Amino acid sequence: MAKQIKGTAVVTGASGGIGYELAKVCAQNGYDLVLAARSEEKLNALKKDFEAQYMIKVQVFTADLSEMGQPAALYKFCHVHHIPVEVLINNAGYGDYQPVAKADADVLSNMLDLNVIALTELTTLFVKDMVKQRSGKILNIGSTAAYQPVPRLAAYAASKAYVVSFTEALHAELKGTGVTATVLSPGVTETGFVDRAGMANAGLAQGAQASAAAVAKAGYAAMQKGSFYVIPGVINKLLAFSTRITPSRRLVLAISALVSKEKK
Ligand SMILES: NC(=O)c1ccc[n+]([C@@H]2O[C@H](COP(=O)([O-])OP(=O)(O)OC[C@H]3O[C@@H](n4cnc5c(N)ncnc54)[C@H](OP(=O)(O)O)[C@@H]3O)[C@@H](O)[C@H]2O)c1
Repeated sequence: MAKQIKGTAVVTGASGGIGYELAKVCAQNGYDLVLAARSEEKLNALKKDFEAQYMIKVQVFTADLSEMGQPAALYKFCHVHHIPVEVLINNAGYGDYQPVAKADADVLSNMLDLNVIALTELTTLFVKDMVKQRSGKILNIGSTAAYQPVPRLAAYAASKAYVVSFTEALHAELKGTGVTATVLSPGVTETGFVDRAGMANAGLAQGAQASAAAVAKAGYAAMQKGSFYVIPGVINKLLAFSTRITPSRRLVLAISALVSKEKK
């Protein structure tokens, strides 16, 4: 029997990792999908798979969202195709693990264009329509790195601190509109992230890693509840809060520097 469609979820970075799992859980719960990422072949394979398995409609938007104009093009794509967007999931993002003094300025700038600018632009464009229709849900992907400065991931952690602050403030602004904004802050998760960031040898990446499916489920549930944030995993939650209540910033920074060191 065909499921009742709840509207469309736009998911960025849907070709793999947490974004793929978020798209899947949306599909399982009866949302049509717009999947965005750079890998056209992967997205087309997902479209085929999801449409067959979940009897939903999937549209593919292939783009590098860090490029100027691409977030607006994604928004326009939804408008031109009269897609009733009910959910926006800003998941596409990456990190770059090295000291700022060794980093490539173009890489950091590109990372900020994706993690911060594209997310802000997409949120700002889609939220207006959601407020007009008096319904909608936005899920932005932060990180536990957002909760303290992280040496060797300095720009990445700062970009995620932006995502957490931006989304929590937006959540408050949206009170009473029928629209909610939620930020999902995972700890280290088993995806392509660690490789792309070049942090396979980082102390941070040595412990147990959460599964992308579990992280996506926690994010989806919090988004459905309209919570303003979710940090999956008890230890991640405790660590994030301990940095907020520790009176000494110097101590927080020293511990963070120790944890984020390269493993010898
Ligand atoms: N894994 C972790 O440990 C972890 C922890 C905390 C937070 N996060 C956050 O979780 C989110 C998802 O990351 P992940 O762990 O699932 O990493 P991932 O496996 O590397 O997936 C990243 C996704 O983003 C897409 N993407 C990358 N650059 C893009 C661009 N310029 N334009 C459009 N799409 C782009 C990738 O697809 P294409 O390559 O096809 O473009 C892919 O679908 C990110 O925001 C990340 O910062 C991850």
